[in-house]
Amino acid sequence: SITEQQKAIIKSTVPILKENGKEITSMFYKQMFENHPELLDIFNQTNQKIGTQPLALANTIYFAAENIDNLQILMPQIKLIAHKHRALTIQPEHYPIVGKYLLLAIKQFLGDKSTQDILDAWAAAYNIIANIFIDIEKQLYDELGPNEEDKGFVPLTIVKKEVIAHESIVALTLERPQNGKMFKFHVGQYLTIRIRKDGNFHNRHYSLTRPFDGKSYSIAVKIENMNEIKGIVSNEIINNYNIGDTILASFPAGTFQLVENGKHHLFIGGGVGITVLSSMIHELNKQGKSNDAILIHCVPSEEYAAFNAELKSILPEGQYQLFCKDQRLGKDDLEKVLKADTQVYICGSVPFMDRIESLLVECGHPSSQIHIEAFQPTLSVIKG
Ligand code: HEM
Repeated sequence: SITEQQKAIIKSTVPILKENGKEITSMFYKQMFENHPELLDIFNQTNQKIGTQPLALANTIYFAAENIDNLQILMPQIKLIAHKHRALTIQPEHYPIVGKYLLLAIKQFLGDKSTQDILDAWAAAYNIIANIFIDIEKQLYDELGPNEEDKGFVPLTIVKKEVIAHESIVALTLERPQNGKMFKFHVGQYLTIRIRKDGNFHNRHYSLTRPFDGKSYSIAVKIENMNEIKGIVSNEIINNYNIGDTILASFPAGTFQLVENGKHHLFIGGGVGITVLSSMIHELNKQGKSNDAILIHCVPSEEYAAFNAELKSILPEGQYQLFCKDQRLGKDDLEKVLKADTQVYICGSVPFMDRIESLLVECGHPSSQIHIEAFQPTLSVIKG
């Protein structure tokens, strides 16, 4: 538990730490990995290197500390993170390790200004937050049933592999060998894939592109520039995994989803962001509700529009809109398709999603009806 005085200490130190969050968390990761190199198999090295993951962790602790009296308002974010943690097979025993090195980094950063009271206050806050995560993650592991093996990464067989857009996006269909148990998922969720390269595991989340058919999972992987580290997992899958091979995956996770009882749905995808929206549109179609869905897909040119033909065939005339590079999506285009009760789902790069969100705000669309699925840690991109 945490005392009133400790809350006050946290609130007064948040600004200093927030301003220097990046340095503190970089320090924290460096020392933690030196002492626990096994954790390199869990943390996404891409996000490490570009600095988004350290920020995400720091931001969460600060947000939580700032809202320690009302953590309920952070529940959607907490659930999103817990799902990601479960997908990466994070365990209760990992929390004290992260806590130890985070506090050490805070201590080192504050230097002369660090006092036992400050450190105790942060330790108390960390423990409260950690226990919330551990509880929620336990529920998520429990949902995977009694079999320990199902709670980790399991081998799935690649039964289909095909290029679906301009040599740049490859779709994979995966099944469990020997008709092993496959867990159902809801559209909007992702599959976390793990590959081994250069002595470590690397993990990456891929949106499921089809509603569950009872036996397989489909994902789409985009070829990344070979010079960019962010493509480690994707490029490895595309270059070195073929039909008949097995690949490691944990069972589907994620909190992004269709709004229940939503009347009108507008999907706005940038490039490969279409993958998650595609499964949602297929789901609405299955429920006989494709009339209520409109898709706007922004791409460099038509050949980059993955799932183009199938989505066109599902959606009524005029409700599949392709915006190619030179037709920039504007406020007018959104006003034409928005109704007061429209639920909007956006997925694409961060700059893309930012731009669309601003346009929606300009249109006066309520933020409670805007749902975004970010490719990178979401709390690292929260503004203000
Ligand atoms: C992801 C916070 C504990 C490992 C994240 C994200 C946040 C976060 C905000 C980003 C989620 C997103 O994608 O938007 C926290 C907090 C913790 C905590 C506040 C403690 C109270 C842990 C522990 C581990 C861990 C104990 C494991 C040792 C990870 C990993 C990711 C992640 C590997 C995903 C990185 C990636 O795939 O890019 N966490 N976390 N976290 N967390 Fe934690």
